[in-house]
Amino acid sequence: MSTLIAYATKYGFTKTCAEMLAKKLDEKTDICDLSSDRPNLAQYDKVIIGGSIYAGRIRKPVARFCMENLNALKSKKLGFFICGMADGDDAQKQLESSFPRELLSSAVAKESFGGEYDFKKMNFLERFIIKRISGSDKNQCRIMKENITRFVDQMKNG
Ligand SMILES: Cc1cc2nc3c(=O)[nH]c(=O)nc-3n(C[C@H](O)[C@H](O)[C@H](O)COP(=O)(O)O)c2cc1C
Repeated sequence: MSTLIAYATKYGFTKTCAEMLAKKLDEKTDICDLSSDRPNLAQYDKVIIGGSIYAGRIRKPVARFCMENLNALKSKKLGFFICGMADGDDAQKQLESSFPRELLSSAVAKESFGGEYDFKKMNFLERFIIKRISGSDKNQCRIMKENITRFVDQMKNG
């Protein structure tokens, strides 16, 4: 049996985090983009699900995957992560509202891995919104490596 990391991204940051996670887990791990693939959960005993947050909500393919596979997921060792620019309590609230409560309650690892603003990748409206919210049009990248390390420890030992 092996580990699945299933994720959805808009501009690639979550994919980068999924790949970092797989490297650090250092065990047989498949990475699956839920926007294009439907993984067969029967092959895995550990499942990690992650996605980025836009306007307070996780990417739709992640929400759909959790709802459609609720029962199958309950029997796995689970970890959940979000990517976003919120931190502290705001990040915690986003994490708790992004996944079904019955799955989160049995998860061994739950973390926010941080996020990035890359103005080159955003569309016009997004650039406008983020410039107003952050008060800047400078790219920002905040990847929380210590949270990824803690997540890996919890998946291995939890
Ligand atoms: C239009 C827009 C809305 C966003 N809304 C949120 C938000 O509500 N909460 C948050 O933490 N991050 C928010 N972010 C930051 C993204 O989650 C962050 O850029 C993340 O790294 C994107 O990951 P991705 O490239 O995998 O999609 C927003 C970014 C954009 C461009």
